[in-house]
Amino acid sequence: MSLDLSVDLCGIRLPNPLVLASGILGTSAPLLERVARCGAGAVTTKSCGPAPRAGHPNPTVIDWGGGLINAVGLPNPGVEAEVEIIATAIEQLAPLGVPLIASIFAETVAGFAAVAERISTANPDLIEVNISCPNVTAEFGRPFALDPASAAQVTAAVRAATTLPIIVKLSPNVTDIVAIARAVEDAGADAIAAINTLGPGMVIDVESGQPILANRVGGVSGPAIRPIAVRCVYDICAAVSVPVVGIGGVTCGRDAVEMLMAGATAVGVGSAVYQGGPEVFGHIRDELAGWMQAHDYASLSEFRGIAHER
Ligand code: FUM
Repeated sequence: MSLDLSVDLCGIRLPNPLVLASGILGTSAPLLERVARCGAGAVTTKSCGPAPRAGHPNPTVIDWGGGLINAVGLPNPGVEAEVEIIATAIEQLAPLGVPLIASIFAETVAGFAAVAERISTANPDLIEVNISCPNVTAEFGRPFALDPASAAQVTAAVRAATTLPIIVKLSPNVTDIVAIARAVEDAGADAIAAINTLGPGMVIDVESGQPILANRVGGVSGPAIRPIAVRCVYDICAAVSVPVVGIGGVTCGRDAVEMLMAGATAVGVGSAVYQGGPEVFGHIRDELAGWMQAHDYASLSEFRGIAHER
């Protein structure tokens, strides 16, 4: 039986559904290419803002046992330098047939529009609008993703600033993620990514009695949050008609199947790359293909969303 793992995400073809989530290894063209060669179906850059930013001091990421906790603080070279990185990455990814998603953030609605307009000149395949980073609240205030009206405002501004497809990345740290999903869909989002990290959380070193992260708190990711991510994806897919990139704790082929059964069009992989290296994409892809073969599925659409059928 011939297997088709390919995905159509907003008119862009991915050779398989596995997407490098933003924030992991997406900081340079060689790294993005390496991840693509290891088997990713699309790659997302580290979120980029209007100006260069150092981010938070170390330690910024730790493995706490059930996954990761991070407060990296959105370090990035600024949109002008990012345009160069993306242009180079696109050239390197083109022969591999792996699309590039440019992730952006800003402190203001107008800032989002300006970064979207500038990043579009590099011609990424899609733009991820990161309105959900939980690690910069002290500087930026509450993430836009925590409120339907604010989330919609950013989405509408980015929609007006670019003709490229836009994916809005949502936060699990809300009481009703469906309300936010509906608001961004109505405001012009072409797709939704869910979820960003959970929390913030805290890990304390019991010898020093101090929080380990320099920022004291950070977003929690990895296997421990997968059931929450799956529930969010399931609820969003039941409520909107745009495609959803399901992200949160996926580490193996069965986890990817679960996200697809919840209704995800594509599946983000983040913390697993931190722990297993970029080769994890090939492993997850092959496990997914093996599971499909064992269950007589020839394409993803044959089981996507089946969890909604009962
Ligand atoms: O702190 C960070 O750079 C994390 C970003 C995010 O979760 O979106």
